[in-house]
Amino acid sequence: MKSTKKITVHSPANIAFMKYWGQKDAAHILPYTDSFSMNLSECYTITTVQLESGQPQSTPQRQFYLKKYDEKDFEQQEGPVADKVSTYVDKICHHLKTSLPQSYTIYSTNSFPIGTGIASSASFFSSLAMAVSRALGATLSTRELSILARLSGSGSACRSLPDGFVWWHKGKSTTKSCAESIGSEKFWDLADIVLIFNDQHKRTGSQEGHKKAESSPFFTARVASTTANLPLIKKAFLDKDFAQFGQLIEADALSMHAVMMTQTPPLFYWSPATIRTIHWMTQLRETGQLESYFTIDAGENIHMILKATDVPAAIALLQKDTIISQPSQLIVNYPAKGAHTISRHLF
Ligand code: PMV
Repeated sequence: MKSTKKITVHSPANIAFMKYWGQKDAAHILPYTDSFSMNLSECYTITTVQLESGQPQSTPQRQFYLKKYDEKDFEQQEGPVADKVSTYVDKICHHLKTSLPQSYTIYSTNSFPIGTGIASSASFFSSLAMAVSRALGATLSTRELSILARLSGSGSACRSLPDGFVWWHKGKSTTKSCAESIGSEKFWDLADIVLIFNDQHKRTGSQEGHKKAESSPFFTARVASTTANLPLIKKAFLDKDFAQFGQLIEADALSMHAVMMTQTPPLFYWSPATIRTIHWMTQLRETGQLESYFTIDAGENIHMILKATDVPAAIALLQKDTIISQPSQLIVNYPAKGAHTISRHLF
């Protein structure tokens, strides 16, 4: 009997406050430290997966269509992008001990530029983990799904499954390295304004970068400082101590980028706009105009972390101030739920 199942998942990108950089076990994507993030309400991926199983068809087909945020139509992907998806579907089947589907069709689209330091691989692979496993008939817990998403190669994808504010426990083995929510999306009214200066795909992705992290002379120091700061940020989060929280976020972003810049070969993601914005935000804070803290992922774009009530003031400053280079796009995010199924399919 031939059977067809179609599942659609909405999955958020996440911004890490304490970041994951470097892999203790690259084969199993085990990090050196825990990390901690917030799901983003306006930066998300929607993926529809249709699997066909049962009686063999004459020509089994694996089709993957992608529509980037600024494109009108879906385009069928071939080559490395389609291969990566195909390899991951096989990995999910292997992990769930199910046979490979005869054929699949996958459509995916996202609400923001990909490959620019806004965790597009996290939202995409987490959506795929949930949609493919559900289409295969598996009902995994959020913890199990986070493990499956981590195995995609984009480790941070595991943090897009649980709701709101999410902790990735580094774990000592592949079944222990998983993510859990430590506060729902309603726990703290924070916001992340993403300032996009460049929406072009970065040259070196994080998955390549992780593999060279240990070559930085500062890597050991970063692991030590992150390990020491993790309990402090958890406390600041639970106490809603924004000043302490913000200071730890900035320190962590700077320490990760210090490692990136000094690994071999170096990864230099910042642009003049990044540095100008750091100065601008620091000055606004010091002069009592706006309390916001920066964090930066693997890209030049800045994430401005602030209290949700300060968003209108921040937007007004961003519109009037000439101190910073004008971002081409602003995306205002609030804490969001983790990956979940929706009934509106993409095809
Ligand atoms: O999970 P990956 O391989 O996409 O790496 C994510 C790395 C950072 O975004 C730079 C940090 C993080 O913890 O999200």
